[in-house]
Amino acid sequence: MKFKTIIEPFRIKTVEPIRQTTREERERLLAEAYYNLFLLKAEDVLIDLLTDSGTGAMSSGQWAGMMLGDESYAGAKSFYKFETAVRTITGLKHVIPTHQGRAAERILFGSTLKPGDIVPNNTHFDTTRANTEYRGAVAHDIPIPEAHDPAVILPFKGNIDLEKLERTIVENPGKVPLAMITVTNNSGGGQPVSMANIRAASQICRRHGIPLFLDCCRFAENAWFIKTREEGYADKTPLEIAQEMFSYVDGATMSAKKDGMGNIGGFLALNDDALAEKCKNMLILTEGFPTYGGLAGYDLEALAVGLEEVLHEDYLQYRIRSVAYLGDILTENGIPIVQPPGGHAIYIDAKSMLPHIPQSDYPAWALSLALYLEGGIRSVEIGSVMFGQQPDGSEKPAAMELVRLAFPRRVYTQSHVDYLAEVLLYVNNMKESIRGVKIVDAPAVLRHFSAKMALI
Ligand code: F0G
Repeated sequence: MKFKTIIEPFRIKTVEPIRQTTREERERLLAEAYYNLFLLKAEDVLIDLLTDSGTGAMSSGQWAGMMLGDESYAGAKSFYKFETAVRTITGLKHVIPTHQGRAAERILFGSTLKPGDIVPNNTHFDTTRANTEYRGAVAHDIPIPEAHDPAVILPFKGNIDLEKLERTIVENPGKVPLAMITVTNNSGGGQPVSMANIRAASQICRRHGIPLFLDCCRFAENAWFIKTREEGYADKTPLEIAQEMFSYVDGATMSAKKDGMGNIGGFLALNDDALAEKCKNMLILTEGFPTYGGLAGYDLEALAVGLEEVLHEDYLQYRIRSVAYLGDILTENGIPIVQPPGGHAIYIDAKSMLPHIPQSDYPAWALSLALYLEGGIRSVEIGSVMFGQQPDGSEKPAAMELVRLAFPRRVYTQSHVDYLAEVLLYVNNMKESIRGVKIVDAPAVLRHFSAKMALI
């Protein structure tokens, strides 16, 4: 290429104004939201990096597709387009649409797990863990050991620990109904998993007769990392790489709100006929008939187009670069982040940035509040508020205290990112004044969504 600037590979056809608020307003809004960013009104947020889930901008192709939505209850044309799109990528036999990823998880786990079972995974995300524990099973996180050290730079820091995977299976005969790999590893910093790791995990699982599932929300971003970092893949297309990733597994759960480029949607895909039958029956009970699974026909159309667009090379190059761009600025200015930058998000290492706040006072939560107060930025804590509560009600500090800045797809431009960087550097300069927080009131599960907090 003659020119090196990586541009947003789209132009903007529709705009949505965002609103500036004053620091005084935000101080009041935070108190009214019980110091929980989930409880803010979105219109009071300037730049919303709470999640990359369902928050992306759809393309003109997706919007056009929506007009073709076939809303038939059974056998809609839109379903077959969606099924073809999923099968082209995954090669998996049964494609079961769901309204989002956690519905796929609930249906899969509801059909496979019993109390006392163990599910190994590089790292479970919050809903995956909660759905596993809801079945009385144990969500066993076994990323490679380096995954817990934010500063270590590795090309595939999302890999599952193969030795621990095999040991878990061998030491718990009859108790591991399935194993999972999350690509990219969201809770572990958006880090990719290598093809070699997926292949080896698959060999272990097949040797022991255990089905392997991908939690494939960000499969396209993972494919791009394989293309650019793993030997032998530079000349393959992202689609070819994704197809190889899925060739090693027996099934997948997907939140299509991420790399499906949709505002809603998901699927469960798998090869086992009997299990698929059981899952489809569960689907009918709570989500809908198997050719719509809780989605409108127009949603299925938008996802069929999105699943194709997400694998475009110019999109993936821009996507991964725009996240790394922020990561590079923060690193140059001494703000500790999980290294290297992830695919969909930057994760600030709050434990190391705010050493004066003990883990029991939730430093990452405190930092996320400061980013909103000073700059109107909404992020999410991935630390001890999200993961510290044990199934028996006791408290155990999370392995890391992270603040995730997740990038919605095709939404913000480079000047938005420059603004973000400016706010982050400002907060870094006044970090000694940031105080910890405490939990005033919280539900028994997934407490971060609704907990009432207070400043210490
Ligand atoms: N698995 C992973 C790895 C996820 O990141 C998510 C959602 C899910 C499963 C559940 O999918 O939301 O469609 O039900 N993650 C979002 C996030 C919410 O902000 O990271 P869902």
